[in-house]
Amino acid sequence: MTTLAKAAPAVPYLDLPAQMRPLRKEIDAAIARTLDNCSFCLGPDVVQFEKDFARFCGAEHSVAFNSGTSALHIAMLLLEIGRDDEVITTPSTFVATSWAISYVGAKPVYVDVDDATFNLDPALVEKAVTARTRAIMPVHLYGHPADLDPLLQICRKHNLPLVEDAAQAHGAKYKGKVVGTFGALSGFSFYPGKNLGAYGEGGALVTNDAAMAARARSLREHGSTRRYYHDEVGFNYRMEGIQGAVLGVKLKHLDKWTRERRRIAHRYHELLADTPLQLPVEAKYAESAYHLYVVRHPQRDELKKHLEANKIGCALHYPLPLHLQKCYANLGYKGGDFPVAEKAARECLSLPIYPELTEDQIQRVVEVIRDYFARG
Ligand SMILES: Cc1ncc(COP(=O)(O)O)c(C=O)c1O
Repeated sequence: MTTLAKAAPAVPYLDLPAQMRPLRKEIDAAIARTLDNCSFCLGPDVVQFEKDFARFCGAEHSVAFNSGTSALHIAMLLLEIGRDDEVITTPSTFVATSWAISYVGAKPVYVDVDDATFNLDPALVEKAVTARTRAIMPVHLYGHPADLDPLLQICRKHNLPLVEDAAQAHGAKYKGKVVGTFGALSGFSFYPGKNLGAYGEGGALVTNDAAMAARARSLREHGSTRRYYHDEVGFNYRMEGIQGAVLGVKLKHLDKWTRERRRIAHRYHELLADTPLQLPVEAKYAESAYHLYVVRHPQRDELKKHLEANKIGCALHYPLPLHLQKCYANLGYKGGDFPVAEKAARECLSLPIYPELTEDQIQRVVEVIRDYFARG
């Protein structure tokens, strides 16, 4: 394995300690408050965070959950999706998008993605609509909004709800408006590495529909609105009080962090423009939140080895599309069904991107990439 200057500092793929350091006092105080009032499950900090996050999304309601997966599961239940129903979605995503569909006994119906953005290709969606279709669920992958207007047009034509998987896209904008309220419901994740990350698991369901929000609150708490009286079979999907307190502190920084992510992405664009890499593009309608900065190259595995040998953190999002996962073998898809998604899985490589990434670190990542291509 070849290494550039051995003494060069490592660039971690993700640096959560660097994010925590300047916030530490505020976080400690917020956690101490939760300990003092012993509000461990939901509680006042979660209630406040729900209000603040709804405002951030420009939504009427946000309901806090113990994960993004739970929020998306409840979205399917709220839409009365169940056995033998179909939901059209993307194979290029984290598997939890499809879990929500599977948990209610419905079938994920995959449609290939757009080569430029890796998001659901609206031109292919309508052909997948059948009499059993109950919803369309795009993902704002890597923080780049899906092309929502044509998807909403198909939804209106066929009287279908749109559910946004916004797990990676806090604050991303579609045609100038923050994502999360374009569909009937949307699900966000606050997994620690997300643009807005808890110090544990967390998620939120966002909607403008008061009745759905009320039912979501009941479903996340054992199907009850009055203690020990259960209106329907529910779940223990509550957000922990400590996560609400931490997220409340971090939300205040999110706009600044998103601006930094975008600035860093543009630095990468500039510095990598003349390399053989295929760089992420931002569609005209989009302001990406750059949860990830994913480049593409046919020799992805070799490039990854070179980066790792030079202590540059990198990752694969995602190495195997969902239609080819073992857990979905029963759906009957095969290699070649979704060529764009399959090529993306073979060629994608995620570079370090986070608000705390320094100019020196960006330069170092670029230097190592340039060195790889200079070797031919
Ligand atoms: C696209 C997508 N959907 C859903 C999820 C599920 O969120 P969580 O990990 O909070 O359950 C994630 C996060 O990992 C995700 O990236």
